[in-house]
Amino acid sequence: MQTRAAVLTAIGKPAPYAASRPLEVRPVSLEEPGYGEVLIRIRAAGLCHSDLSVINGSRPRPVPMVLGHEAAGEVVDVGPGVDRLQPGDHVVCAFVPSCGHCGPCQEGRPNLCEAGAEANARGTLLSGARRLHAEDGDSLHHHLGVSAFAEYAVMSQHSLVRVPPDVPFDELAVFGCAVMTGVGAVVNTARVPAGALVAVIGLGGVGLAALLGAAAAGARRIVAIDVNPAKLRLAETLGATDVFDARDPDVAPQVQAATGGGVEFAIETAGAVAALETAFRVTRRGGMTVTTGLPHPDARFALSPALLTAEERTLKGSYVGSCVPSRDIPRYLEMYRRGRLPVNRLLSGHISLDDINDGFDRLDRGEVNRLVMVPST
Ligand SMILES: NC(=O)c1ccc[n+]([C@@H]2O[C@H](COP(=O)([O-])OP(=O)(O)OC[C@H]3O[C@@H](n4cnc5c(N)ncnc54)[C@H](O)[C@@H]3O)[C@@H](O)[C@H]2O)c1
Ligand SMILES: [Zn+2]
Ligand SMILES: [Zn+2]
Repeated sequence: MQTRAAVLTAIGKPAPYAASRPLEVRPVSLEEPGYGEVLIRIRAAGLCHSDLSVINGSRPRPVPMVLGHEAAGEVVDVGPGVDRLQPGDHVVCAFVPSCGHCGPCQEGRPNLCEAGAEANARGTLLSGARRLHAEDGDSLHHHLGVSAFAEYAVMSQHSLVRVPPDVPFDELAVFGCAVMTGVGAVVNTARVPAGALVAVIGLGGVGLAALLGAAAAGARRIVAIDVNPAKLRLAETLGATDVFDARDPDVAPQVQAATGGGVEFAIETAGAVAALETAFRVTRRGGMTVTTGLPHPDARFALSPALLTAEERTLKGSYVGSCVPSRDIPRYLEMYRRGRLPVNRLLSGHISLDDINDGFDRLDRGEVNRLVMVPST
């Protein structure tokens, strides 16, 4: 079938993107879903910094590629071998498909699926196929098995979680990345207990979701840190008890003074080495620093092994919030329904597919949390 999609043709075009137009919104053809695959009508797709990092070259991926990995939609058609979904179902996309058979999948860690990681690095669906083609017939790459900046998409059934039909699609979309990543980093990776001292460093979509997760987990203090004062003000309305400007060179001693020696859990959600350094410095002796950020793969973080040993510190990475999507999306949705995770507060507005470059300018300038693209058809 024919559809329209935002195709990234070249990496590293300069901002402003409204002028350089790294994403070209144009007609593309979509093959029918193959074995185990599903045709989805995209109803909403969030703009995440990980998409921006592909555009600016911090997260190198093969091009041409249809971006977008945080999305919700409706099943239109299913290929052979699809047993868990049928037309009309509402779904949230998970940006790591899981094979169910590899070592990590067998250990209950589908976010680390080996086949899923390989397919994502190659820009294919889990099957290895590419179902997207340019008008000249050349194949386009899929982004994280989702490619949601489009009107329709074909995905593996293992990239999809069925959800109840009564939640608005724009709110559902953010569960696919920001909520799983931010809430999961707190609940699954750090396992923050009630009464803990928590800091969140970097208050974008992921960080604000982490803040909501820390509040839901019952943290007694939530320290919010960012370089953007507007984000600090917003964080105060979402449950932050203390806010600090990361540009202040004394931010670490200030947090230590405010928390009696630093926080027990610091969650880095900025994607900058400087933010990870801040996160580590505001963590107390015996504490845990969790990083969700994805700076350029060549970036390095200097750490004192002696400090790690003598203070029994933990430094832990968190990918997709260590989530099992089919378990955690329904859990977080129910928390949202009960008012425990007001993820609607993460939304900064809606844009059309045609305005996608302008949307990335707004994310790049730090003006928004989650902008959601809603296709017009
Ligand atoms: N681990 C995962 O599974 C996963 C999933 C999604 C996104 N990510 C990554 O998480 C990061 C955040 O994504 P997002 O979409 O929330 O980004 P965003 O652009 O919406 O937010 C980033 C925030 O960090 C702040 N910031 C930048 N430098 C800082 C510093 N030195 N100290 C403190 N704050 C700083 C910015 O002002 C901004 O508020 C990105 O690196 C993204 O690629 C990881
Ligand atoms: Zn994302
Ligand atoms: Zn697997």
